[in-house]
Amino acid sequence: MAGRDFYNILGVSKSASKYEIKRAYRQKAKEMHPDKNKDDPQANEKFRDLADAYQILSDDEKRKIYDQRGEEGLNKDSMSSGFDPFSSFFGDFGFDFGFGEGRQEKRETPKGADIRVDLWVTLEELYNGNFVELVRKKNVFRQASGTRKCNCRAEMVTRQLGPGRFQMMQQNVCDECPNVKLVTEEKLLEVEVEKGMRDGQENRFVAEGEPHIDGDPGDLFTVIRTMPHPVFERRNDDLYTNVTISLSSALTGFEFKIKHLDGHFVNIKRDKVTRPGARMRKPNEGMPNFENNHQRGTLFITFDVDFPKGDITEEEKQQIKAILKDDDVKSKAYNGLRGY
Ligand SMILES: *[C@@H]1O[C@H](CO)[C@@H](O)[C@H](O)[C@H]1NC(C)=O
Repeated sequence: MAGRDFYNILGVSKSASKYEIKRAYRQKAKEMHPDKNKDDPQANEKFRDLADAYQILSDDEKRKIYDQRGEEGLNKDSMSSGFDPFSSFFGDFGFDFGFGEGRQEKRETPKGADIRVDLWVTLEELYNGNFVELVRKKNVFRQASGTRKCNCRAEMVTRQLGPGRFQMMQQNVCDECPNVKLVTEEKLLEVEVEKGMRDGQENRFVAEGEPHIDGDPGDLFTVIRTMPHPVFERRNDDLYTNVTISLSSALTGFEFKIKHLDGHFVNIKRDKVTRPGARMRKPNEGMPNFENNHQRGTLFITFDVDFPKGDITEEEKQQIKAILKDDDVKSKAYNGLRGY
C-alpha cells in the first residue's frame, strides 16, 4: 500500500504541467462536487481525495516529495484540512454553476451587488490557456458583540383611537439580530483563461461580490480583455500578421519561419513573385476555437516589400533592365484600378 495515486485521481499523466493539473482539478471538481452527486454515498470521500490530490500536485515541493516517496513520504500537516481549493476556483458558496437550481430561483433573501472587473490577458494566454491569480480584497460581515435591528419591513398596524374609531398606519418593524462588523479579507482567486476565449467573455465567482448585511453577497465576474500583441492581430478565430521582405526576396522567393504564440514555428515558403500587399493563408494556424479547441482559425500573412534605399549605379541599372527584360517604357498615367 503506497497511499493514493494522486495522478490517477486527477486523471493526468506524471509529467503534467501545473496548468494541466489546475485544469483537470477545475473540471473534475465541477463534476464530482457532493452537491451534484447526492446519490453517491462516497461522494464526499471522492471529493476529499480530489482536493488532496490537487493540494499536493499543485505545490512544487510537495509534488517532488510525493513523486519520490508517495503519500507516505508526506507528513500529515502537508494536507491542511482547512484548505479549500474549491473556493479559490469557484467562490465561497461553491456550488452554483448556473444549472438553474438553487439560489437563483426561489430567492427571497436579498443579495449584494455584483461586481465586474476587467481581466487583461495576453494573446499567448488565450492561445495556450492559463490560470491567472487574482487577489481579491473583499469586505465581509463578521459577527460582533451586541445586537442590531435587522430584516426591517413595513407592516400595517391598526390602532384603536376610541369606540368605533381606528387608525391604520404603516410601521417599520424589525427583528433583533446579532451585531456584525465589516472586515476586509484577502482571498486568492484563480481565474481560468480558457483556450480561445474572446473579448467580453466572463468567468463567475459565486459570492465574491459586494456583501449584503441581511443576505448573501453578490457575485464577482471577471471580463476577458485582450492586450494588443506586437506581432499578431486577432479577428474572430483568425490571426493576422505583417511581414516585410526585401525586393530581391519578392522577385526570387524566400523561406523563413514565424514564431507562433506557443513557441512553435510556422514555415513560410514561396518561390513565385510576391507583390506588395499580397496575402498568404496558413489554415489551422489561427486561434483555437473556444467551443472546440481542436478546430483552429487561419493565419493570414500580408507582405510588404522593402525597396532598396541606396543609389543604383548605371551598370547595375543596365543589368537589372537586362534581367527584367523591361527596356521599353510602358509607364502610362491612368485612372482607376487597372492601367494599360
Ligand atoms: C498590418 O498592417 C496594416 C496596414 O499598415 C495595419 O493596419 C495592421 O494593424 C498591421 N497588423 C499587424 C498585426 O501589425
